[in-house]
Amino acid sequence: MKRDKHFQIGREAVEKLAAEYGSPLLVLSLEEVKKSYNVLREYMPRVRVHYAIKANPHPEILQVMRDLGSCFDVASDGEIRTLNAMGVEGSRMIYANPVKLGVGLKACCDCGVTKMTFDSASEIDKIKKQCPNATVLLRLRIDNSSAHVDLNKKFGASRENALALMQYAKDAGLDMAGIAFHVGSQTVSADPYLRALDITRELFEEAEAVGLHLRILDIGGGFPIPEPKVKFNLPEMLKQINARLEEDFADAEIWAEPGRYICGTAVNLITSVVGVTERGGQPWYFLDEGLYGTFSGVLFDQWDFKLLSFKDETEKIPATFAGPSCDSLDIMFRGRMTAPLEVGDLLLVPSCGAYTSASATTFNGFSKARFVVWEEVKETLDLAE
Ligand SMILES: Cc1ncc(COP(=O)(O)O)c(C=O)c1O
Repeated sequence: MKRDKHFQIGREAVEKLAAEYGSPLLVLSLEEVKKSYNVLREYMPRVRVHYAIKANPHPEILQVMRDLGSCFDVASDGEIRTLNAMGVEGSRMIYANPVKLGVGLKACCDCGVTKMTFDSASEIDKIKKQCPNATVLLRLRIDNSSAHVDLNKKFGASRENALALMQYAKDAGLDMAGIAFHVGSQTVSADPYLRALDITRELFEEAEAVGLHLRILDIGGGFPIPEPKVKFNLPEMLKQINARLEEDFADAEIWAEPGRYICGTAVNLITSVVGVTERGGQPWYFLDEGLYGTFSGVLFDQWDFKLLSFKDETEKIPATFAGPSCDSLDIMFRGRMTAPLEVGDLLLVPSCGAYTSASATTFNGFSKARFVVWEEVKETLDLAE
């Protein structure tokens, strides 16, 4: 599937939706979620997708993924129980948080989740005690400082300790089944995956030599979405990864844990300018959505959001954009080039679905932005993308 454009609503839709539902408003396209899932399935047909629900646990996204037959990457008892309440069997989940809480392991027992990752001996001791029938995957550290968010600063066993830890898990009586890695979020080239696959292949062989047969490989998440000023070729990247999987892991079960790629482009934010002032010769624009809301991704995900004003952009000026709260931390962008704006202007923020609303708060008493589903509202309001 060649994908030439992602979900982005136009000016008329922005105006009509804001008039009907108010602002800030998050517009979710379930068709976009399906397209993203299908792209991964098409380029890597043998890979079993486990949607990392931390990226966006909106119930409509979870339902679509459940109905598409996806599996899920869960990180806590809350995520396990949410999916369980939606009828997702435990066999479709992997508890992929290498450091688990007792309540998380309890939720595994209650909901039939047996697959989990670990990166230390102490984690094996915990798993053995609470979930002795677990199937475990060693989470391997893959150094990749070029990743947008390098998860390997916090998780993963070193290459040197890997074999001993796997042996420890086997000796503990657990089903020591495979290796998992995460090359880092928003990785824009196949190279870190290929390097990780080289190391994993070696470890599969070393394990086999000591009588430990590994049968599952989990290549994690990290697949990228369009980002201002960053170029990459996703189909090419996926083809290279898939070719290597076929070459080196033909007999293994392959899993992946995409988060951002599934939900990132499926949400557009509509936000309004609610205040304007000038400081040091530069305009400041206050929006009705800020760092404590959907723009929490600026802090937690270091994401550089695109702001579209639908104005004549020939005369751009540098401006500061701040959120609505009374906290001086609540400033999203400084020196951002924009057409001059005024109170009441609407802005569109595309690709706003990953690590955004998931980490939003109600700090200062501001409600979280409301969601509408594009495929439902476009019918009612007779809108086009
Ligand atoms: C264990 C694990 N798997 C998958 C993901 C999803 O990563 P991404 O959104 O980059 O695809 C994360 C993100 O934090 C993670 O920690």
